[in-house]
Amino acid sequence: MKIKNICCIGAGYVGGPTMAVIAQKCPHIKVTVVDINEARIAAWNDKDLSKLPVFEPGLDDIVKGARDRNLFFSTDVDKAIDEAEMIFISVNTPTKTYGKGKGMAADLKYIELCARQIARVSKTDKIVVEKSTLPVRTASAIKSILDNTGNHVQFQILSNPEFLAEGTAVPDLLNPDRVLIGGDTTPEGTKAVNALVEVYENWVPKAQILTTNVWSSELSKLTANAFLAQRVSSINAMSELCEKTGADVDEVAKAIGMDSRIGSKFLKASVGFGGSCFQKDILNLVYIAKSYGLNKVADYWEQVIIMNDHQKQRFSDNIVNTLYNTVSGKKITFLGWAFKKDTNDTRESAAIKVADNLLSEQANISVFDPKVVGERVYADLDYLKTRTTEENRRLLNVCKDPYQACNESHAIAVLTEWDEFVDYDWENIYKSMKKPAFVFDGRGILNQKTLEKIGFVYYKIGSGID
Ligand code: UDX
Ligand code: UDX
Ligand code: ADP
Repeated sequence: MKIKNICCIGAGYVGGPTMAVIAQKCPHIKVTVVDINEARIAAWNDKDLSKLPVFEPGLDDIVKGARDRNLFFSTDVDKAIDEAEMIFISVNTPTKTYGKGKGMAADLKYIELCARQIARVSKTDKIVVEKSTLPVRTASAIKSILDNTGNHVQFQILSNPEFLAEGTAVPDLLNPDRVLIGGDTTPEGTKAVNALVEVYENWVPKAQILTTNVWSSELSKLTANAFLAQRVSSINAMSELCEKTGADVDEVAKAIGMDSRIGSKFLKASVGFGGSCFQKDILNLVYIAKSYGLNKVADYWEQVIIMNDHQKQRFSDNIVNTLYNTVSGKKITFLGWAFKKDTNDTRESAAIKVADNLLSEQANISVFDPKVVGERVYADLDYLKTRTTEENRRLLNVCKDPYQACNESHAIAVLTEWDEFVDYDWENIYKSMKKPAFVFDGRGILNQKTLEKIGFVYYKIGSGID
């Protein structure tokens, strides 16, 4: 079966870039990305490519080349479903904030709504592809909704988890380590799997396209994220020990990373991992394990989250302790708000929790982030409901200029590893600050020797005896 028409429901951080790359690499396929959020679709269609709702290096060029040729963004969900032979579901699956599994399980209401809409609209057979990260066995739930439409349309459900990381979405999509496709082992299932394999074969070498059963595919996504997050929590656990013993966490990371069994990636100690996936997927994994009575398995993975929360708390505690046990009325500058560099996404960013802790100590915070807009910063804080909206705006101020953000400040905290922070004029920043001038480097990116020579008191996560 040759696919000519693809629809993707959900024009977010995953759906948008993924479909843009499919459209670029498969000019013979019409790709329509739909979303119920009209403002988001309007932004995807904006002539000014700097207005795209997702900032990813290189994405603007890809959208520019394919948009209105074979890549379309629309709010007409029914029409796109009706026309497509293959429908990707790429809607958000946040952690449940109510009811059973609150704070742990994934909220599948958006997925279910999509499935019901597909069931209602479809007049011809469809292949439905799960792109969102989902709890194991979600495919069977989708299938039971789709199979009970009574209109004799045949559906095949595939799991095709996305492994792209934000900030490197375009290179990750163009050059994936692997593409994973899970499907039924029946003849119809195999046919559907092959149809999706053919789409990817337009640019991904066949040896890198893995096919498995649906459940292996679903569970592999959760496992990959759990392992990656676990590495960050493991090195962060060592960072605290390094600070006590005089070891340097970057030296330790280098030494262990050269062991080919361990590998060098994902060993950068930080103020804590963030992003839309790690915490959500691990909580989900913990919930699933518990639901099968596997309490030891659940407890094992839950430690990864506990360690991450501790790392954020420890970072803000250290700022307060170092600033003579009080930050009340003091200006503290945040360089970075995004959960990592090269993205405007702030979901679960460590900066949010660190700011919340310091605001509770009555600090005044100035934030500068190269890509995150002020409204987003306030929305992230307001969402916590720790204090009123007015109070958040009174205590925290978002600056458009990093030097203004640092002016008259008692301390600078580096929360995101943006490259440009390294090249700032640190001499001038030092001159403009209150003395002693402190830098708390939560990402270990600045040059300790240079900063200390200028006069800063420099603290890096994972080094120095306190
Ligand atoms: C280990 C370290 O690998 C080595 O670098 C250090 O110097 C000493 O400790 P060793 O204990 O000799 O070496 O063997 P290793 O290959 O690491 O295996 C340790 C245990 O883990 C074995 O029981 C092995 O069966 C088990 N293992 C290893 C697994 O169960 N699964 C694996 O994937 C790898
Ligand atoms: C992650 C997975 O990498 C990706 O495969 C999956 O599809 C979605 O989740 P993402 O959350 O976009 O991607 O970014 P990632 O690069 O994994 O970083 C996650 C968090 O871990 C960030 O806050 C990052 O700063 C932090 N991190 C990562 C570290 O603190 N140290 C590291 O060494 C690596
Ligand atoms: P992700 O990081 O997984 O891509 P996002 O939140 O960035 O998550 O994107 C998910 C998108 O899915 C949002 O733009 C949201 O409006 C959209 N969405 C959610 N439910 C539906 C639905 N039933 N129909 C169409 N779009 C939906």
